[in-house]
Amino acid sequence: MPHVARDLYQKCREYRDSADARAQGFYPYFRCIEETHGNYVICEGQRKIMIGSNNYLGLAQDERVIEAACAATRKYGSGCTGSRLLNGTIRLHTQLEEALAEFLQREAVLLFSTGFFANQGALAALTEEGDVILCDRENHASIIDGCQFAPAKLVPYRHNSAVSLRNRMKRQPEEAGKLVVMDGVFSMSGDIADLPPQLEVAREFGARVYVDEAHSLGVLGPKGRGAVHHFGLNDEVDIVMGTFSKSLGSMGGFIAGDAQMIEYLKHRARCFIFTASLAPAVAGGVLKALEIMQQEPERMEALWRNTRKMHEGFKQIGFKIGTTQTPIVPILIGSEAKAFLFTQRLYEEGVFATPAIYPAVRYGEAIVRTSYMATHTDEDLDRVLEIFEKLARELGTFDDPAYAQPGRRKANVFDFRLQDSEGEEAVRETAGEPERNGSGVHSPLPR
Ligand SMILES: Cc1ncc(COP(=O)(O)O)c(C=O)c1O
Repeated sequence: MPHVARDLYQKCREYRDSADARAQGFYPYFRCIEETHGNYVICEGQRKIMIGSNNYLGLAQDERVIEAACAATRKYGSGCTGSRLLNGTIRLHTQLEEALAEFLQREAVLLFSTGFFANQGALAALTEEGDVILCDRENHASIIDGCQFAPAKLVPYRHNSAVSLRNRMKRQPEEAGKLVVMDGVFSMSGDIADLPPQLEVAREFGARVYVDEAHSLGVLGPKGRGAVHHFGLNDEVDIVMGTFSKSLGSMGGFIAGDAQMIEYLKHRARCFIFTASLAPAVAGGVLKALEIMQQEPERMEALWRNTRKMHEGFKQIGFKIGTTQTPIVPILIGSEAKAFLFTQRLYEEGVFATPAIYPAVRYGEAIVRTSYMATHTDEDLDRVLEIFEKLARELGTFDDPAYAQPGRRKANVFDFRLQDSEGEEAVRETAGEPERNGSGVHSPLPR
């Protein structure tokens, strides 16, 4: 009898979600950008105001950063063609690590090829079987995946809740090694971590604390040092993770902390050891961007001016923007279909933004995720608000039951199919605690 193996490609052949959305004319992803000018881009030959980028300080297009990246390429070539451990360490890597350590007032820093790898590598290397990672439910997917890679047990707690953290902590074995992990700024809601009370709980139970500063570096704290510095708690937090893919305008990530921990990661983090090091252009560009960020505080001031303007502007029109405190401004639409439609109409009107749907946010609480930059002009932002207002009227956003009662399932034809095959009932059943969004946290967590 021949073996009748299940064909792994069957699911690929059956996958219809993106094709269905394209057929409806509302597919919002992989839009091709032909030119980038920071506050606007050119797509299909037309100018679109960019409100979907994490280039908070506008440094990705800064001529000095571009020149530094080019100079690094000329000196070292287009790539390092090997792991840091072996042939892939260049002077720019060690300079960048030293510069970051000084900036963040930490003993040492280790670069990773992406922020995703930094989270995955550190969480997996620092924990052992029998340890526990207590993880805010709205943490980024790279943290969730990192926790799943780690030998430690993953224990999620309610978003930004020290009470929930304490309850979860109390149920863990006293002797277990414990790590509390949270985003400094949450990537979908724009909330800032409520760090002080959570830190107190962590200390009470002898846990280490880890903060992901992906969206807070360059945005919060003196000179953009991040959420930990914003709260004046740098000496209390054990591990800081960051990325170069947002305010620093490039790609790559890092872990900062005490020298012994970094030395351990250098020799134990598999995502660090078994991958090629950051390209010279990246290291050179980020080094220059870090310098400019510190020398030009007016960038952060402009970012916050624009942020305040957009918070106010959206609220005045009548949009719900959740509990954001930062340049990330989620615009609640409600149904996934309407969020796709809204985004498509924005694009046609000259605004580039993307929707976020389940499981990135709670089912039926789809948003258009917008984010603002220092380089947006008043004219850009007024135009964005004008277009949002016009579309809300055109699409009846505020009258939609899905908007008035977010979370309710509405039959709609071009939803991406629920990843959880049991559908909304399962999502609601497991919802348990009254969270605002993000219950799926990019990949569903056990409750
Ligand atoms: C909170 C958070 N952590 C980590 C990452 C991963 O960073 P990178 O893009 O450098 O891989 C992201 C990126 O979206 C993020 O938002």
